[in-house]
Amino acid sequence: MSTSPLAQLTQQTDELLSSIAALETLDALRDAEPALTGKRSLLSTLQKSLGSLEPDERKSAGAQLQEARRIIEAALEERRAVLVRQERLVTLEADRLDLGDVVVGDVPWSLSVGHPGLVALTQRELEDVFVGMGFSVADGPEVESDWYNFEALNIPPAHPARGMWDTFYVDLGEPETVVLRTHTSPTQIHLMEEAVTNASLPIHSVMPGRCFRRDTPDASHLYSFHQIEGLVVDRGITFGDLAGVIETFTRAYFGPDISSRLRPAYFPFTEPSAEFEVTCTICRGVGCRTCSNTGWIELGGCGMLDPAVLEAVGIDGEEWSGFAFGFGIDRCAQMRHELSDMRALIENDTRFLGQFS
Ligand code: FA5
Repeated sequence: MSTSPLAQLTQQTDELLSSIAALETLDALRDAEPALTGKRSLLSTLQKSLGSLEPDERKSAGAQLQEARRIIEAALEERRAVLVRQERLVTLEADRLDLGDVVVGDVPWSLSVGHPGLVALTQRELEDVFVGMGFSVADGPEVESDWYNFEALNIPPAHPARGMWDTFYVDLGEPETVVLRTHTSPTQIHLMEEAVTNASLPIHSVMPGRCFRRDTPDASHLYSFHQIEGLVVDRGITFGDLAGVIETFTRAYFGPDISSRLRPAYFPFTEPSAEFEVTCTICRGVGCRTCSNTGWIELGGCGMLDPAVLEAVGIDGEEWSGFAFGFGIDRCAQMRHELSDMRALIENDTRFLGQFS
């Protein structure tokens, strides 16, 4: 053992440690690593030679080698951390811009930094509220086929509901009817289809996005507006769960001063269905032009998923149930910020927009 390389291990470890400390760059460290700890390193060669030793000697030599490897690997990591820090500082220094010599002249225009508009800000706030309640956020296409916008939602051709959801038609020269979506409800269908394909039910999602209708703009309508759809598909879901979600949302978004109410309504894709209304914030319930003198503003619709919709996407209605809702994002912004006329949202008047940065 006295003449074997193992006997000189301590001295050789010291030499390796000095060579590690002398490495100047991360590239040099990367290049040196295989020779220090890799398959052809001294440590690995010695490891292989252990087989020729007597069992007693092998044990203590093995332990010695292991310790030497630990020390060398630790020294490498330490050196790497130092070099990473050093190289980062060099990069930072190189990237630093010295503006000391720049002569600042008169800028002949007023520089102002843009910011998201009120609808985008409202959408983010709504997403935050729903994420806080355990929903995920999903996206859907703004251009839809007739199947997604109507048929899968239990609205066959010539159904009277098509009239109130009339929209802009896209002529792609194809036999299939293609439309700008009138609501975010088609995204429900995409999500359920995906969940069936990936066997990933249940679903607890909200889906915000832009919608289009052949509506004439007035104090509470636009032809291009935004909705946020909600969809829950799970086992044992009841109308009580839906009412609880709506109430929790109203309190979280509008605060305790604003009341909400659910009124029986009809939607072809939910049964039973309800309209969700909040106290008009413009007149505080007294009645005004914005709320058509009712004291209430309709924010959206909701209801339990109709079995026909579950069947259209291939979900077993015996095992799964659920609810859906869809609110106007622009309406939420209007009520929250007490805007008497929703058209302010699309007029691009910077005096208005600048108040919501
Ligand atoms: C729907 O669009 C249904 N898809 C909602 C729904 C979803 C019901 C899921 C059941 C289950 P409705 O047409 O009522 O329903 O529109 C919902 C909300 O969108 C309205 O209450 C309103 O807040 C907003 N909205 C509708 N049309 C306009 C418009 N032209 N301008 C601004 N907001 C609008």
